Amino acid sequence: IDKKQFQHDLITWFENEQRDLPWRKSQDPYKIWISEIMLQQTKVDTVIPYYERFINKFPTPADLSSATEQEVLKAWEGLGYYSRARNLQHAVREVVSEYGGIVPNTPERLGSLKGVGPYTTGAILSIAYDIPAPAVDGNVMRVLSRIFLIEENIAKPSVRSLFEHFVEKLISKQNPSSFNQGLMELGALICTPNSPACLLCPVQQHCQAFAEGKELELPIKEKA
Ligand code: ADE
Repeated sequence: IDKKQFQHDLITWFENEQRDLPWRKSQDPYKIWISEIMLQQTKVDTVIPYYERFINKFPTPADLSSATEQEVLKAWEGLGYYSRARNLQHAVREVVSEYGGIVPNTPERLGSLKGVGPYTTGAILSIAYDIPAPAVDGNVMRVLSRIFLIEENIAKPSVRSLFEHFVEKLISKQNPSSFNQGLMELGALICTPNSPACLLCPVQQHCQAFAEGKELELPIKEKA
């Protein structure tokens, strides 16, 4: 793979074709954090109005920190997975008490916050702080498994770090934000599970699965 060409093709496509989504209007790490937590188990179209209302009600870490848990759960009502909301408020209170309300910008400090795993850590570092860090979720694993013809079982928790190593090697140091969001957007718009639009794909020329006609065989996802 020609790394520079791949980065250019992916980033140029993302910057021209990305969806207009509310969390893409700001680089505020608090807003990016909230959006990524909401997006982890909920579809984009569902998240949009919740995100807008939540940010209006709790515009800063101080606002979310001083709200009651009941107020936060009420704003979350309908999104499901309510531990996400409880963990988020717990972690935001820690950001206020320990870091003066500034969302940290190191993997160690982010990763120690309740509910903030490797994916969310990488998303905040890259999108909010322009720090080259992998942000690998299931969609990104699907995209990368096809580009690199990776025949590992992505249902195994341990294989995510393999994908993170690929991203660490490949990520643009100049524009990690558009690089990571480009991988996410490719998974959402083009490199979909059952009917990938390979003929429209900006990185088709780099894709090993496409070259071998194996895009529908990947990723491999089987339990035990
Ligand atoms: N899914 C996870 N993160 C996302 C983002 N930042 N934009 C769109 N979809 C996403």
